[in-house]
Amino acid sequence: SAADKGGWTSFMAKEVSEGPEAVANTLRGRLVDDSVALELGALDDAVLRDLDRIVIVACGTAAYSGLVGKYAIETWARIPVEVDLAHEFRYRDPVLTPRTLVISISQSGETMDTKMAVQHARAQGARTLSICNTQGSTIPRESDAVLYTHAGPEVAVASTKAFLAQVIGQLLFGLHLAKVRGTIDDAAIAEVVGELRELPDELRQVLAEQDPIKELAHWMSDTRSVLFLGRNVGYPVALEGALKLKEISYIHAEGFAGGELKHGPIALIEPGQVVFVVVPSPRHEPLLHSKIVSNIQEIRARGARVIVVAEAGDAAVLPYADIVLRVPLTLPMLEPVLQVVPLHIFALELATAKGLDVDQPRNLAKSVTVE
Ligand code: G6P
Repeated sequence: SAADKGGWTSFMAKEVSEGPEAVANTLRGRLVDDSVALELGALDDAVLRDLDRIVIVACGTAAYSGLVGKYAIETWARIPVEVDLAHEFRYRDPVLTPRTLVISISQSGETMDTKMAVQHARAQGARTLSICNTQGSTIPRESDAVLYTHAGPEVAVASTKAFLAQVIGQLLFGLHLAKVRGTIDDAAIAEVVGELRELPDELRQVLAEQDPIKELAHWMSDTRSVLFLGRNVGYPVALEGALKLKEISYIHAEGFAGGELKHGPIALIEPGQVVFVVVPSPRHEPLLHSKIVSNIQEIRARGARVIVVAEAGDAAVLPYADIVLRVPLTLPMLEPVLQVVPLHIFALELATAKGLDVDQPRNLAKSVTVE
C-alpha cells in the first residue's frame, strides 16, 4: 500500500532513498576509532592467516557487488580472489581446499543457486562466509560465519540499497583480513575508515542532486539500447547499471570494461548511441583516468552520446561529455557506492517515464528459491 511506501511512488524509489542509512547501519559498531572490528566466529585469525585463496559466489546484483569486493580484498589483503556466478561454480567441480574461503553474497539468504554453491563448498572442506541482509535466513545458517549487512528490508525486485551494503560488507571484511594478515599498515586502514564514515553524507548529497538524472531519463524514454563502460571498480558499476536498466525498463543494455571496447563493443557505436561512462578519480588513478578519457574520445568520434559519471572537479571529461553526473570525492575502492546511485536512479526514472511497474518487473522474482 501507499502507506508502506512511506509516501514514495514505489518501493524502489523508497529503497534508493534509504541508501545512506543502509551504509551507516552496515558500518555501525564495526568501526572502532581508526580501525575495523569484526567478530567472525569460526573464521578466527588463525584460519584467516592460513587462507590461500578466496572465491566469491553470488547471483545477479550480488555478484556484481562481489566484483567490487574482489578488487578491494586483493588490493588490501594480497590474496587471490575470483568471483563466480553461484550456478557456474556449483556445476563445474571447482578446486576447493580447507585453505579456500568461499564468500557467498545474498540479499535474501534464500537464493537456491547460491545456497547450493555454499553447500558444495562446505562438503569439499572449504571455509564459508555469508554476507547476507536477512537475519536467520538459510545461507547464513549453513555457513561457518556471517557478516550481516543492515540495509533493512528490500521489497522492490530490483536490488538497490542492498548492493551498497554488500559492497560495504566486503570492504569491512577486506580491511579486517588485511589487518589480520599484516598486509596493510594502520595509517592506510585509518584513511579508509575515515572515508567510510563520510559515505552516508556523501550519498545524501548524490540523492539531493537527482534532477538532471530525472530530466535525462524523460528525454531518453524512447531509447532502444544503452551501453555502459567502466574500468577497475567502475567495471562492476557499469555491469550493474546495465542490469538495472534491463530489469525494470526492458531496454537492451550492456556493460563493458573500457579496455575491451576495441576488442568488440566499439563496433556497436553509431551516431546517437547512448553510452554511460563511469570515470575513476583523476587524483587517485591518473593512469586509469587517462585511459577512460581516451575511450570516451574514441566513442565520441563515432557519434556516441556520452553521459559521464565523474567525481566533482574532474574537468578533463568536460570537452567530451554530453552530460556529466557528479559524485563527491572519495577513495577508489569506495567510489562504486557513490557512482552506482545515479545509475539506479536513471533506471528507476526511465521505467517510470515509460509507465512501467518498477517494483514488479515482468518475469522476475525478488528471491529465486528454485533452480
Ligand atoms: C534475483 C533478483 C535480483 C538479485 C538476485 C540475487 O534474481 O531479482 O535482484 O540480485 O536474485 O538475490 P540475492 O537475494 O541472493 O541477493
